[in-house]
Amino acid sequence: MKMIPPRCSMERFAERFERVSRIGSTGDGGVHRPFGSTADLELRHLLQTIAQDEVGLAVHVDPIANIWGIHAGCEQLPAIALGSHHDSVPYGGRFDGPLGILVALEVIQTLKEHGFPNRHPLAFISFTAEEPNPFDLSTMGSRTVTGRLTKEQLHTSKDWDGRSLQEAIAAAGGNLARVHESHLSASDLFAFLELHIEQGRRLEQANIPLGVVNGICGIYREHVTILGEANHAGTTMMRDRHDALLAGAKVALALEALIKESHRDDLVGTVGRFAITPNAANIIPGTCDLVVEIRGATTEDMHATARSFAQATAAIEAEYGVSITREILLDQAPQPLAHDVIELLQHAAQEQSTPYSTLFSMAGHDATHIASFTRAGMLFVPSIGGKSHCKEELTDLQDVAPAIQVFIQTVMELDQR
Ligand code: HGY
Ligand code: MN
Ligand code: MN
Repeated sequence: MKMIPPRCSMERFAERFERVSRIGSTGDGGVHRPFGSTADLELRHLLQTIAQDEVGLAVHVDPIANIWGIHAGCEQLPAIALGSHHDSVPYGGRFDGPLGILVALEVIQTLKEHGFPNRHPLAFISFTAEEPNPFDLSTMGSRTVTGRLTKEQLHTSKDWDGRSLQEAIAAAGGNLARVHESHLSASDLFAFLELHIEQGRRLEQANIPLGVVNGICGIYREHVTILGEANHAGTTMMRDRHDALLAGAKVALALEALIKESHRDDLVGTVGRFAITPNAANIIPGTCDLVVEIRGATTEDMHATARSFAQATAAIEAEYGVSITREILLDQAPQPLAHDVIELLQHAAQEQSTPYSTLFSMAGHDATHIASFTRAGMLFVPSIGGKSHCKEELTDLQDVAPAIQVFIQTVMELDQR
């Protein structure tokens, strides 16, 4: 007999969203909750309390400090997991990450309280440090469980102030000495589902409430260090200067020109971090540090852009008489999501008469890594004005209800497999 998907409680969901949004609130609509911050630790505590005391899950924290909550299944089978991340970018929005976590809890709680006899365990997960952070290791939790971050990388990592990652992970409840124990395979996870805000304008512009994600872009990052010469801003003739800031500005403009030449929407480039020293009005900048990011739908496009970028920096080095070193921080391939999960999500949306569109994601997600070893699927809900990674990030919580129902039905169908 086919079981009708039970209905979630949007009142409960909205109340939890309010509670979670208060942690790390900047008071202007945004949150500041980077990995390792007090707000990160405070939210970890709240999520464990909600998962354990309100949803009734068996909670544990793995060695990389991912938070898990398990609702046992009737059979010895790999788990169906749902989740996202709870950290934020610096001075970011309330929705990126936590929305998916609260959806995961709502899906599991709804099935649990309606007595759905799940064969597979249902697992809630909140990943550690999805966003770029002072340890320069984004998607830390999901990359660690897939073995994509080595023990060496984790053990030697320090933040910009010299604090070791071991210490930060220990404070979050993990233990790097046992990090190998957090590795997962298809025999642990049967499937992974993540809901996220779209972070763009496609759904809103098309007036469509749901996005079924078919793949996630690749991300390539380089830390570029420019060594020029600090000197007096009045007495040093223009021809005698080796200005690290001007060289850095040229680097950023060169990247923009390269990307624009491609006339593509699925290839983008950004210099999002830029710092100079000594940073004083009357000193020619001596050093410039920047992080260059390239995102694309194919590895070929990203690598071709990176090669052209390398040539451009060599020319800038000669032009300004500076020394430029480049260190690759991330070289992550684009990742298609699982066909069978995409079909289940589309089918559930059709059954519930929820209009959807199938989208490729130019934002990065933990699902990219989980999809490397098990079937992973994602849903997007509309972002008002397409704003994200800023305090203006906004999604109408009523728009999340259809997505929760699609996930409930999809979990029920996956559970039969
Ligand atoms: O950077 C990203 O795309 C993601 O939001 N972490
Ligand atoms: Mn983000
Ligand atoms: Mn996110």
